[in-house]
Amino acid sequence: MAQEEGGSLSEARARVGALHGITDLAQKLLFYDRWALDYDQDVAALQYRAPRLAVDCLMQALPGPPNAALILDVACGTGLVAAELQARGFLQLHGVDGSPAMLEQARARGLYQHLSLCTLGQEPLPSSEGTFDAVLMVGALSDGQVPCSAIPELLRVTKPVSSSVRWGCSGGLVCLTTRTNPSNLRYKEALEATLDRLEQAGAWERVVAWPVDQWELATSELELVPGTSNSDGFISGIIYLYRKQKAAQVEGGRPSPQSPAGL
Ligand SMILES: C[S@@+](CC[C@H](N)C(=O)[O-])C[C@H]1O[C@@H](n2cnc3c(N)ncnc32)[C@H](O)[C@@H]1O
Repeated sequence: MAQEEGGSLSEARARVGALHGITDLAQKLLFYDRWALDYDQDVAALQYRAPRLAVDCLMQALPGPPNAALILDVACGTGLVAAELQARGFLQLHGVDGSPAMLEQARARGLYQHLSLCTLGQEPLPSSEGTFDAVLMVGALSDGQVPCSAIPELLRVTKPVSSSVRWGCSGGLVCLTTRTNPSNLRYKEALEATLDRLEQAGAWERVVAWPVDQWELATSELELVPGTSNSDGFISGIIYLYRKQKAAQVEGGRPSPQSPAGL
């Protein structure tokens, strides 16, 4: 394992700790640009499990065969989510990210049919309404990264109920993750308020919220919650899975990318 090789775990901890300390989006994207070549090695050292767990979660709710599903990987980074998707038979993958260098790594992986540069929260996604059977965003919902105001944009590009004969009467799925360690709890609270408001408006329905104890290794003692099952050195996270509801149900309170609360 990479974490056993000399200083690689401490270097990874230092880099990810520094990343968490950046709250300005432009600065954070620059950091990702510089980190792109070492990203996969560092997150392997930290035993980052979110891509695999998110894809496991999505698999449980997909009604059709994976090779028939068109998937959007938002904030795709170097393509770790695509690697997990491909291993389970998903073949039609699109990705977007705000860092050109991360996108370059994703392109080199050769798993995406389309990759686009897009800064979530500032630009709309480069796709038409109701395009994707499933939209995932893994590891990018936290302070200084993707703001909660970008969530309705994910819903917009997700297929509504009844647009696909092959997929029966199910609406498309949206899978999101965030960390639940102490420094991210304020963001998580704001995120959950946004998710709940969209559910109350009938835009989507929660399929599952799956808390995960072992998300990735903590970057410092301060990130651990004493006396919990996280004491083995891991921070915790959570995976949310939503199913889009009928478009008619959100008319009049339709989510818009311009509306911060999404209502
Ligand atoms: C921690 S990485 C996660 C990458 C991948 N999803 C994974 O799980 O390995 C976060 C990614 O989100 C991207 N990102 C952060 N904020 C963004 C924003 N507002 N718009 C677009 N991309 C963003 C970064 O460039 C980076 O590639």
